[in-house]
Amino acid sequence: MDERERRGIFRNLTSYGDPGLSRFLRRAFLRSAGLDAADLGRPVVGICDTSSDFNTCHRGMAELVSAVKRGVLQAGGLPLAFPASSWNEILTSPTTMLYRNLLAMEVEELVRAQPMDAVVLLGGCDKTVPAQLMAAISVDLPAISVVTGPMRTGLWRGERLGACTDCRRYYAAHRAGQLTEEELGEVEARLCATAGSCPVMGTASTMACVTEALGMMLPGGATAPAASGDRLQHAVAAGRRAVALAEGGGPRPRELLRPEAFRNALRVLVALGGSTNVVVHLFALAGRAGVPLGYADLEEASRAVPLLVDCKPAGSGYLEDLHAAGGVPALLKALEPLLETRVAGEAGAAHLVDVSGEPMAARLALTAPPGAWQTTLRSLESPLGPVGSLRVLRGSLAPEGALLKAAAASPSLFRHTGPAVVFDSPEDVARRIDDPALGLTPDHVLVLRNAGPVGAGFPEAGSLPIPRSLGSLGVKDMVRISDARMSGTAYGTIVLHCAPEAAVGGPLSLVADGDPIGLDVEAGALELLVPEEELARRRAAWRPPPRPGRGWARLYADHVLGAERGADLDFLLPGG
Ligand code: FES
Repeated sequence: MDERERRGIFRNLTSYGDPGLSRFLRRAFLRSAGLDAADLGRPVVGICDTSSDFNTCHRGMAELVSAVKRGVLQAGGLPLAFPASSWNEILTSPTTMLYRNLLAMEVEELVRAQPMDAVVLLGGCDKTVPAQLMAAISVDLPAISVVTGPMRTGLWRGERLGACTDCRRYYAAHRAGQLTEEELGEVEARLCATAGSCPVMGTASTMACVTEALGMMLPGGATAPAASGDRLQHAVAAGRRAVALAEGGGPRPRELLRPEAFRNALRVLVALGGSTNVVVHLFALAGRAGVPLGYADLEEASRAVPLLVDCKPAGSGYLEDLHAAGGVPALLKALEPLLETRVAGEAGAAHLVDVSGEPMAARLALTAPPGAWQTTLRSLESPLGPVGSLRVLRGSLAPEGALLKAAAASPSLFRHTGPAVVFDSPEDVARRIDDPALGLTPDHVLVLRNAGPVGAGFPEAGSLPIPRSLGSLGVKDMVRISDARMSGTAYGTIVLHCAPEAAVGGPLSLVADGDPIGLDVEAGALELLVPEEELARRRAAWRPPPRPGRGWARLYADHVLGAERGADLDFLLPGG
């Protein structure tokens, strides 16, 4: 059998016990698609299409699929698109995070089982991109990520709007009685102006930028707006590059995703003032790649890197501004002194490359620094904010760590001690948060538990609303603590991902109303100020909440790892 019979459409033969029959049947069936002998000899590029009418962020994906196909054909490859499930943040219950690992498993099996030499991964909304990358790492077939790109901003009464930081701001104003129902309706009609992902530095945008920084996307691809020629040109280029990857057999994801690439990605995340969710996704990707990565690496990045990017919620701009300022290539140039461009190897140090095959050092040498004409992308010498935009907290309430997005929090609450008010689930919050009987003051610490990976599939329930009684008095922020996540577009003094989570008996499960809780952001401390004897008494009486009875939710709850390990499933890790 010559090499051509092991590649392209002859990869991963269907198991009939007769390889000749398998190849014959493949040729016959693909002839029905109009493919001739020349087509059937070309390298195959799979295109993972996550379009869905339920996922408005992917509304423009059909055009992207066409553009990638055009690039593949131009370079002499055979493009074959295939569908995978699509999970939209807003239209999925109870939370897309429950389904990230399901999509990762699905894409892994689709790429492994079907004949392709390389794959272009089309994603965009929050969980699609990390799920596709997790799959690509596990299969370790050459892969390129292409995202749908951010929406353009909308306009309301002269003000630019973008989902979903502005959704939250205006909804909070409405709850506080500062915006009428009619005005809220006008805002609703203008928040999501075009196809594409949320145009602030939420999870989708952060994940796109971090994917480019990891080297899994062609340069410039993270920020080009969805409805732009830049976006389509990028997709065509990705198609062309995928053919070269298919012909050359790499670089493969595990060759690109070295520890140095992950540490660079964490630095980019901090400079962006990016989403806390992306910390979880990076830990999951590193786990798949067998790269040790944890909170200590994030702390190191956070201590060294200031906030450089002026995008909401940490700043004031939008992704289209960052794209105009040069996007991730310009950000990497601004961060150049802090980046690692060489990788350690058995044969000595080598260049860190990206999916284009070009060494990062060579690209940086040719990239111009951010222009003086713009203000979205700042320099290390004149940053937008101090170091420490993401903080890791530890203490008796989170022995295995918790996260705070300091860049989007209130410095006046960085050192705070207050009495706890405990909610047992997101549903409990919805039922009681506005109950006057709680007697809430701005000093109270709102605690939500049983909303971690095991407890509830890890929803974005951590940004508990400011109680209506306090919001109407002008209170805009309070300390909120949970084992949940929050949307990357949210803001406030919100401590997330407390681990171990309450549903497995973590300290959050022991908190009672009125317990004093101490937060000290500068010291990285989160303490439940209750004597150990009392906690031991409560621990002995604690019983785990029931788990889902069947199906995916049960499999997930039985096997999901903690936030500090990326909330992947234990059996999907290498050797798991
Ligand atoms: Fe899809 Fe924000 S809801 S990117």
